[in-house]
Amino acid sequence: MSKPEIIIVRDLGELAHKAAEQFVALAGRAIAGAARFAVALSGGSTPRALYELLGSTEYRERIDWRGVHLFWGDERCVPPDHSESNFGMVRESWISQIQIPAENIHRMEGEKEPRAAAAAYEQELQQFFAPAPGQMPRFDLILLGVGADGHTASLFPGSAALDEQERFVVADYVEKLKAHRLTLTLPVINAAAQVTFLVSGASKADVVRRILRGSETAELPAAKVRPANGSLAWLITKDALADSID
Ligand code: 6PG
Repeated sequence: MSKPEIIIVRDLGELAHKAAEQFVALAGRAIAGAARFAVALSGGSTPRALYELLGSTEYRERIDWRGVHLFWGDERCVPPDHSESNFGMVRESWISQIQIPAENIHRMEGEKEPRAAAAAYEQELQQFFAPAPGQMPRFDLILLGVGADGHTASLFPGSAALDEQERFVVADYVEKLKAHRLTLTLPVINAAAQVTFLVSGASKADVVRRILRGSETAELPAAKVRPANGSLAWLITKDALADSID
């Protein structure tokens, strides 16, 4: 993997615009080449500004939604209309504003029993990407966030899910949340053509500094994201970059 690209932005608005421009460029290239663009979306609050922008009149006409396939990097184990649902957040902020074929929306079924939901999503990825035996599904783009504890997607520090090398999707019981989560595994994330972290908020400054300096990152899941044959970008608002880079 080449060195991560680190893009420092003023605020969430500029982060959303930079990420939207990357999305438009990658989608246009993928659809022109392979007639489809497969992206795995992040949950949380930071990406919402991007999703709203992509659904706005400023951007929605610049993308051929017929070729865009939306997946999720992780999901809470709740129904799609629950306030915690990552799918629900994307539907409300973005999907409701665009004409995208229903069959292009590949949501994780958070309402199902977690292990069954993970197995079902694994099947969905198997069917869509049809990877060669032993290979991983290769997303064109995976959007990720990072928690102050260094988690990304729903891969939390100390989780056994971090050691998963074969499955694409796992259901993980997260002790600190006292809840199960569904998440893509590191081999899938690291198989992507492009991974972009969207990071904002002063609470992330310390973990961003530790990750970008490469210091004591062994237990930080986000530090394990290094696409083997892909590119990695960090889009970071200034308030999340307090003296992170020498
Ligand atoms: C989730 C996300 C999670 C998120 C981080 C950062 O389901 O919540 O996948 O990994 O990206 O917690 O969240 P913020 O962007 O809200 O800080």
